[in-house]
Amino acid sequence: MADEIKPETPAPKIVPQTGEATSAAVASTRAPAAGAAASAPATGANPAATPHATTTAAARPAAAPRPPAAPIPDLAGKTTNVASPGGAAAARATPATAAAAKTSTRDADDTSPLLNRRAWMGLAWGAFTAASAAALAATGRFMFPNVLNEPPQQFKAGFPNEYGMGVDERWKEKYGIWIVRTPEDIEQHASGFYSLSVTCTHLGCTPNYLSAENKFKCPCHGSGFRTTGVNFEGPAPRPLERTRIVLAEDGQILVDKSRHYQRELGQWIDPEAFLKA
Ligand code: FES
Repeated sequence: MADEIKPETPAPKIVPQTGEATSAAVASTRAPAAGAAASAPATGANPAATPHATTTAAARPAAAPRPPAAPIPDLAGKTTNVASPGGAAAARATPATAAAAKTSTRDADDTSPLLNRRAWMGLAWGAFTAASAAALAATGRFMFPNVLNEPPQQFKAGFPNEYGMGVDERWKEKYGIWIVRTPEDIEQHASGFYSLSVTCTHLGCTPNYLSAENKFKCPCHGSGFRTTGVNFEGPAPRPLERTRIVLAEDGQILVDKSRHYQRELGQWIDPEAFLKA
């Protein structure tokens, strides 16, 4: 009977497998939908004799055995796996070895007694860096030479009527001179002004003006100078030096420290060594 309905074969149960067997199983599950002709190449069985034989485990081809795991070479060039002699022991020792390698910072051939090689290298690099920084700083220091900001050699010291008789110390600290007003100069034989250098003619200390004794006294070795600048006690060999003193265009006293006058050389009689007033 052409219209007789044949009972359907129950759906094959899919068993997860690997490799070619899994592929065959998947192909066999698709066979009813794709037709017997499509399933034939996958199973290699006769579809007419056994239409769904490929769905059974007995008809499946045996799965190809997995190839053994490739040995992994270690750093020494040896290959070790679990199957090799000592491989299992090596596998068991691996975590401990890794832990020891983590905690140890010393190389296998490092036999330094005090510090390990890495510590020595760190020390050497630190010293090299510090020396390089110091050399660089010393080189950079030459870019900023010492500059001595001296006061100007010429300055205006005010008007003559601002001075009384005697020694004026206003300019000692800033310009290094005393301005003395005298009614009678020992060289010029006139009243007026002269400026005295505050440098002792012995070894260059700065004397002090002692108003009670009306003299200059050097604190270093005791040299004494009269208010005229002439030395009279101590080791100073000659009088203090005078500097150029003139009247500026605006009527102020102009002192020029770039020109000095020495009495022992007869220079105190120079017109610009004394300002008559
Ligand atoms: S430096 Fe002034 S007395 Fe020696």
